[in-house]
Amino acid sequence: MRKMTNNIISPAGHISDLLPDQNKPRVYIETYGCQMNVADSEVVLSILAENGYSVSFDPKQADVILINTCSIRQNAEEKVFKRLDMFSRIRKNNPGMLVGVIGCMAERLKEQLINNFQVVDLVIGPDAYRKLPDLIKEAGTGQKAVNVLLSREETYADISPIRMDKNRVSAFISIMRGCNNMCTYCVVPFTRGRERSLDPEKILREVNNLTRLGYKEVTLIGQNVDSYLWKSKETDKEISFCQLLEKVARAVPDMRIRFSTSHPKDLSDDVLSVMSRYNNICKHIHLPFQSGSTRILGLMNRGYTREWYSERIKAIKRILPDCSISTDIITGFCSETEEEHKKTLSLMKWAGFDFAYMFKYSERPGTKAAKKLKDDIPEEVKSRRLTEIIELQNKLSQTSKTKDLNRVYEVLVEGASKKSEADLFGRTSQNKVVVFPGKNHKPGDIVKVRINNCTSATLIGISV
Ligand code: 5AD
Ligand code: SF4
Repeated sequence: MRKMTNNIISPAGHISDLLPDQNKPRVYIETYGCQMNVADSEVVLSILAENGYSVSFDPKQADVILINTCSIRQNAEEKVFKRLDMFSRIRKNNPGMLVGVIGCMAERLKEQLINNFQVVDLVIGPDAYRKLPDLIKEAGTGQKAVNVLLSREETYADISPIRMDKNRVSAFISIMRGCNNMCTYCVVPFTRGRERSLDPEKILREVNNLTRLGYKEVTLIGQNVDSYLWKSKETDKEISFCQLLEKVARAVPDMRIRFSTSHPKDLSDDVLSVMSRYNNICKHIHLPFQSGSTRILGLMNRGYTREWYSERIKAIKRILPDCSISTDIITGFCSETEEEHKKTLSLMKWAGFDFAYMFKYSERPGTKAAKKLKDDIPEEVKSRRLTEIIELQNKLSQTSKTKDLNRVYEVLVEGASKKSEADLFGRTSQNKVVVFPGKNHKPGDIVKVRINNCTSATLIGISV
């Protein structure tokens, strides 16, 4: 491995500013899972850049490969195991290279990763990233390094992330870490620890940094943003999510603001009312419902009923008539009957979701569901139920897009469309993707587009 220097590359910035440098050890990071992991990889890169690392976009050219992992479902973990096999082949030609597993799988599997995969030199949990430079040094001496301590305080609030997005238009700020909800199916409380919120001043500083870097949109992220709560040690004053959202909206009136994920038991009318008062807060809420059956919601320990969820949807539609709503659904949870599955379908139809992430239940070792409930829905039943849910959502997505025909939307341009270089793509405030002929526009512009066609996934239009 190359010698490390103490050069500070940049306190903040974009990955493309960290050009590969032959004189510095080069790190390659691959990220799986949710937006929180993307935000964490950006923090990791910042820590390493400050400690004299350069970046590599090709694992074959790297001195250190880090894989930031997800444990949420078994198939997420399987993807990572396949990548480790791949990295093990790459390392054959570069024996000095170090391979580290970081993130949720590191936290869940700990030493097992080192014991079962010869290629793994480092295992580092989500609260131990500050130790990365030291641990890499330690692993460089041939000693395998593990740090999976969870913290009640770590938020990385003082670290300005190095952004890894492609277009420099939209970025994430993690406003809280961990989760206290203990949904019975979910591994996150075990892999990411207890909830803690970031100092609002640090969040505002990062929002301002993003404006300076030319970003036009920020998404405030956390496992359950509605339970964001900052208590000042000096004054004892508390700041809630609703207050934070308003502060951010006022601080950067020209920037679009999004947030995710909301929890139905905590989403308040106050948040909806702040959204209605600020044009720059995007009109989209991601509100996972998981199941349409109150009995299953109870087994999942979600803390709300079908009726409560429906009432929250009504509140959104009342207070924010042009707001889009997306959701997460788990099908085939322990003991789910056919009738309960139909309740999920009927809630979907009633709510008319604009978009949904849909999953088969995947039992996670160590969770309450794994310990106390039987994963008794056969795989083929889970698959069939998932297909029914996906087919219904496709229709609902199509209906949602069809309603937008002939309307004019402000679209924040993100880049060139995948299918044609002549077309651009961007998003409406409602988070719907719009494709339109580029003309003279560029990423970061807000363009008024009239919608004249659509698929279930995309709106198509022309600028007006
Ligand atoms: N099996 C399937 N889906 C899960 N999710 C969380 N845990 C599991 C699991 N064990 C889904 C939920 C959550 C989303 C991020 O992932 O729908 O909202
Ligand atoms: Fe993100 Fe959850 Fe996956 Fe961890 S387990 S990476 S928190 S989705």
